[in-house]
Amino acid sequence: MSNSEIPTGLKELLQGYTVEVLRNRPVDLVEFAVRHFTQILENQRNVKPAKKNAAKVARKGVTFATSSDESAQDGKEEVEKEPVKNTTGKYIRRVSVCAEAYNPDDDEDDDTEPRVVHPKTDEQRHRLQDACKDILLFKTLEQEQFSEVLDAMFEVQVKPQEHIIDQGDDGDNFYVIERGVYDILVAKNGVSMCVGKYDNKGSFGELALMYNTPRAATIVATQEGALWGLDRATFHRLIVKNNAKKRRMYEAFVECVPLLKSLEPSERMKIVDVLGARCFKDGERIITQGDTADCFYIVESGQVRIMIKIKMKADQQDNTEVEVARCSRGQYFGELALVTNKPRAASVYAIGETKCLVIDIQAFERLLGPCKEIMKRNISQYEDQLVALFGSSVDLKQ
Ligand code: CMP
Ligand code: CMP
Repeated sequence: MSNSEIPTGLKELLQGYTVEVLRNRPVDLVEFAVRHFTQILENQRNVKPAKKNAAKVARKGVTFATSSDESAQDGKEEVEKEPVKNTTGKYIRRVSVCAEAYNPDDDEDDDTEPRVVHPKTDEQRHRLQDACKDILLFKTLEQEQFSEVLDAMFEVQVKPQEHIIDQGDDGDNFYVIERGVYDILVAKNGVSMCVGKYDNKGSFGELALMYNTPRAATIVATQEGALWGLDRATFHRLIVKNNAKKRRMYEAFVECVPLLKSLEPSERMKIVDVLGARCFKDGERIITQGDTADCFYIVESGQVRIMIKIKMKADQQDNTEVEVARCSRGQYFGELALVTNKPRAASVYAIGETKCLVIDIQAFERLLGPCKEIMKRNISQYEDQLVALFGSSVDLKQ
């Protein structure tokens, strides 16, 4: 490195410090700097190698003691419970993971939790933003909360066959996929089954952190890949707290969605916890016919138009898009490809400003099983609908 080159990470470190100064307006800038950088150092030293699987590499995130950690067993857990100072100089309490109860409405520690910052280069931040742009759990965050999430995330390189998560373990981090393919394995009665996979996008590891339960599945990389991790404490402080708000916002609405009526209230709330909200402009395409499907939609406001490409005559070259149906508030679309495991059967466009609730394919499989019979009944009407509209000779174009 020549003397004139700026070391990697310096800019982000100084920017992070400047932001904290502007936010906290400390009297003594030097003392504040000492605290700020000590906190970053502490966060970096908190790295612990994963305990059960040697293939699990040390994640650079801030991890906290679990009940089964060796450190907890030999008494070091008490050290973690000691009050520590955060960058603003206030004393905060550290709690071991297993002592935490799921209580999203508990706002007590909101402004006293230490803020985790993993400095990143511009290039890293760019890649991170790209990986996070469609993550449903982040879609209902305020801009400032989302920036805090990005600051706290840390990069993880993944090797083929590596176990990122093992079913039954305590939850440490939530993961967003930058690249790579990951199998989802669920063991029941001693038999492990592959129930799905993540293919170069999506996120996993939210359940154990949201509900304070053991990991519900094993996630194994099938090839070399890259992930972004978010530590448990930050996930709680930002995502779980935001879920309490989401529950208040959507509780009444999901009760009125006909498809979800048969579910228990607690099952409906689990859907609310993982859904994202997306707004579309008039005419914007939400689904493209022929694409691979990865999510399911419920219209919250506005309307959508379902369009199918058909050849009106057998010898015709061009295919015309024809409207076959509309969905409005409380109605759903995008289930067909998920239920049949086929490409999208139609394109869907917003009519006016439209807001949809979005559920990813993994949550759809996990939480909407009991609604599948209703969906299948409605799907059987699609064919009749088309025959009624175009007659039986119509040629549907995929
Ligand atoms: P968590 O239980 O924290 O760790 C395993 C993760 O696998 C889980 O969160 C979900 O994010 C993800 N997952 C995907 N599909 C399933 C499934 N069918 N059952 C349980 N977990 C699943
Ligand atoms: P999917 O195929 O996943 O994406 C397009 C969606 O349009 C489809 O799921 C259905 O939810 C919806 N749709 C409504 N009417 C029809 C129809 N007649 N044929 C196909 N899809 C339809």
